[in-house]
Amino acid sequence: MKTIAFLYNVRHHYPEANDYKNQLQGDFDDPITIRWQIKHLKNLGFNVIPIEANEEAYLKLYRLKKKINLVFNIAEGLHGKDRELQIPAMLEMLQIPYTGSSPLTHAFSLNKEKAKEVFIANGIPTPIYQVFQTYKDSLSGNLKFPLIVKPIAEGSSMGITNKSVVYDEDSLRRQVKKIITTFNEPAIVELFLEGREFSVSMLGNPPQILPIIESDHKMLPKKYQSIDSLEVKWYFEDKNLDYLICPAKIDIKLQKKLEKISYKIWQALEVLDWGRIDIRCDRKDNPFVLEINSPPGFAPPEASLSSYFPLAGRAAGLDYEKVMLGIIQSAAKRYGLKI
Ligand SMILES: Nc1ncnc2c1ncn2[C@@H]1O[C@H](COP(=O)(O)OP(=O)(O)OP(=O)(O)O)[C@@H](O)[C@H]1O
Ligand SMILES: [Mg+2]
Repeated sequence: MKTIAFLYNVRHHYPEANDYKNQLQGDFDDPITIRWQIKHLKNLGFNVIPIEANEEAYLKLYRLKKKINLVFNIAEGLHGKDRELQIPAMLEMLQIPYTGSSPLTHAFSLNKEKAKEVFIANGIPTPIYQVFQTYKDSLSGNLKFPLIVKPIAEGSSMGITNKSVVYDEDSLRRQVKKIITTFNEPAIVELFLEGREFSVSMLGNPPQILPIIESDHKMLPKKYQSIDSLEVKWYFEDKNLDYLICPAKIDIKLQKKLEKISYKIWQALEVLDWGRIDIRCDRKDNPFVLEINSPPGFAPPEASLSSYFPLAGRAAGLDYEKVMLGIIQSAAKRYGLKI
């Protein structure tokens, strides 16, 4: 029986839109998610060693190194602006095979500014933007309202709430200040795109594109901005399962555009095994990349039915365990491991 070490971060607070500090663990996973993920790994016939990706993780990995055949990594990392690369970097150092991308890819995918620089260098369209180091920075002339304010290096819509879309300079500065002080990192301000939004899940090397998800913003009650904000992701999606349309109803031309962009990003950032790309269109259906998620959220159906990557898998006829196995096999093949 092969042994898989399962590397995760656990959330101790449920995020709230009005309590920004509470959002700091937003991209960690609930205990119930982790319990079920372990169960699914066991169902696949693996001996599973769960390891929380905290400061003791390195010691545990070091001690258990000889027993571990492969790490299934969904850890987001613990501290600092490059935290997602911490576990992959430890695993490289210890020469333990693991699922997903390398430290370099994780560093770029977490940092929205650096990812955008790579997109731009590769001719991949992304909304124009400006990074604010302080709320007093002067606003560049080519950014016209409405704009959206985001933390530069977070995920799971942390810091992205109804208040993030801003229509004038006062509210822009207020929101930038809030983000910088809460997350202790620069804010990224982007042109707000008002068109359709898609999420593209990719699996394997070379990747297969799973059915594309569209968020049906038209379904949102008036009190919500038409974005996948924290409020929408955490309080609306799970209760309104038809909000996420998968496969998205798109014509072949748009589908080809989305796929082309996604493959280009995969190559440019050297993504491995799995990743999810968020894309939003302008009003004329021209797609622009918002970001890449590596590793993407991966909650099992017992914990959430609106976790994007497993949802796309289900639409392709792959249940949670099949997707999990797909990720594992794709990594194992890279390392020449028999799993
Ligand atoms: N430039 C933009 N124009 C329009 N909407 C945007 C823009 N940037 C972000 N959004 C909205 O905000 C949501 C969250 O933004 P983004 O995907 O960049 O953040 P995230 O927290 O990293 O997301 P995830 O939960 O996928 O990790 C998007 O899904 C989209 O609805
Ligand atoms: Mg996103």
